[in-house]
Amino acid sequence: MQQPVRIAPSILSADFARLGEEVRAIDAAGADWIHIDVMDGHFVPNLTIGPMVVKALRPHSAKPFDVHLMIEPVDPFLDAFAEAGADCISIHPEAGPHAHRSIQRIKALGKRAGVVLNPATPAKMLDYLLEDVDLVMVMSVNPGFGGQRFIESQLRKISAIRTMIDKLGKAIDLEVDGGIDPSNASRVIAAGADALVAGTAAFRGGPAAYADNIRALRGG
Ligand code: DX5
Ligand code: ZN
Repeated sequence: MQQPVRIAPSILSADFARLGEEVRAIDAAGADWIHIDVMDGHFVPNLTIGPMVVKALRPHSAKPFDVHLMIEPVDPFLDAFAEAGADCISIHPEAGPHAHRSIQRIKALGKRAGVVLNPATPAKMLDYLLEDVDLVMVMSVNPGFGGQRFIESQLRKISAIRTMIDKLGKAIDLEVDGGIDPSNASRVIAAGADALVAGTAAFRGGPAAYADNIRALRGG
């Protein structure tokens, strides 16, 4: 069942020189989750942050840390992100042959487990994974960078996955990541999403604008 929308600002668009303050500010502005994009310069063409930074940020917010791992291989790092304070850890099945094993490990660590589908990856990828995950994330841009344009074809995939989740009848979050702003958020929610990641649209304008930015993403 689709839940009321949760907003997950991506700190990829925050001021990296002041990350702790930025996390406190976006939390106070009404963020539901803090989305943390982990990139390895291998699975995606960009490098960001690792478990040490997640650990350093942990005292700055009590909100769930929604950790998006864009790394290959992923299994050697799951324990470190769990220990660093991740609440939900999401992996890309495109990053390796053993997605189900990664999901099992995340759950064994006592964390919520998510699976992320790249724009070209079909919903069918979920056939034998969906019942074992807590969250599905649909990438509406190619992963690696903030500030890209929303890929419209992903709306069909969001609808298809909403149908799959409702048929299964489990409380699985359907999150969408990439290019989301107030102009398309309502269409993404109408397609079936109940969690929206936003980097550019959440952090634009600096701390004074964060609360309005988040309100606009919820539909005003
Ligand atoms: C892309 C990341 C996204 C992205 C969102 O690889 O997973 O979280 O930074 O940023 P915007 O909202 O700017 O597309
Ligand atoms: Zn992300």
